[in-house]
Amino acid sequence: MTEKLANSPNHKKLESKVAIITGGASGIGEATARLFAEHGARAIVIADIQDILGQNVAKSIGNGQCTYMHCDVTCEDQVEALVESTVKNFGQLNIMFSNAGIINETFSQTVLDFDLNSSDRIFAINTRGMVACVKHAARAMVGGGVIGGSIICTGSVLASFALPQSIDYVMSKKAVLGLVECASKGLGKYGIRVNCVSPGGVPTPLTCRASKFDSVEEGESFFMEINRLKGCGALRVENIANAVLFFACNDSELVTGQNLVVDAGLDPHGLTKAD
Ligand SMILES: NC(=O)c1ccc[n+]([C@@H]2O[C@H](COP(=O)([O-])OP(=O)(O)OC[C@H]3O[C@@H](n4cnc5c(N)ncnc54)[C@H](O)[C@@H]3O)[C@@H](O)[C@H]2O)c1
Repeated sequence: MTEKLANSPNHKKLESKVAIITGGASGIGEATARLFAEHGARAIVIADIQDILGQNVAKSIGNGQCTYMHCDVTCEDQVEALVESTVKNFGQLNIMFSNAGIINETFSQTVLDFDLNSSDRIFAINTRGMVACVKHAARAMVGGGVIGGSIICTGSVLASFALPQSIDYVMSKKAVLGLVECASKGLGKYGIRVNCVSPGGVPTPLTCRASKFDSVEEGESFFMEINRLKGCGALRVENIANAVLFFACNDSELVTGQNLVVDAGLDPHGLTKAD
């Protein structure tokens, strides 16, 4: 099958599926919501804390196919309510893309100056929030007798190597890998797959704000520089969404517990030039 056909909306890979995407109001989550819609997902629920943005994304996808729900993933009750209302409204949950995440925008957090208080928020969202989403999605899939449920977490290429700074972020994403490995072992007997997509440097509102670019477009040249796959442009949110789609659909029906790094051959030294 050619790549064109595989990615063509005419070849729909998610027909009848119901999906939740956390952090779906922006960046990687938004691009994934749009791709899931193109691939015929019956219902996509965007869960985020940016209500207006999330509602607008859902509306622009349209056709009643996509809805928005406020959910702060740091609050387990809100995650449980998100999953419950999805099952109530759409009958089942097939796909959870647990993607909401933040970085420490000062890129500080070295060993010697580690600020434990400021790391709490990162762990609350990136790690605690991720566990809550995996737990409640899995409970809904097991309870609902869903066959072939797929849970996908967003990790980071930074979980695959060490940095002298941003230690809190690196730790939070290494924990995601541990969660994915353990959850895949525990949920295999229910036919539920759990995988991770680990992006490299992708220009999104999150990373461009942190790198002090005025817009995502402005950030693209920086992200191209740290990319070893020359001539392909910067890594884009659509590249990450394609990897998520792979895990969400039957193309990966026997793949679980894996971490797919999508980083355009990231040169980690590019990230530490300032040292
Ligand atoms: N962009 C990159 O280069 C990159 C690289 C590696 C990993 N990631 C990961 O990708 C994921 C998405 O990031 P992005 O780059 O698309 O950023 P983004 O800021 O565009 O999107 C993240 C979304 O998460 C939402 N969010 C934040 N806190 C939340 C909370 N408590 N509850 C619910 N939603 C919340 C935000 O409102 C936002 O809409 C994150 O987990 C991030 O760590 C991004």
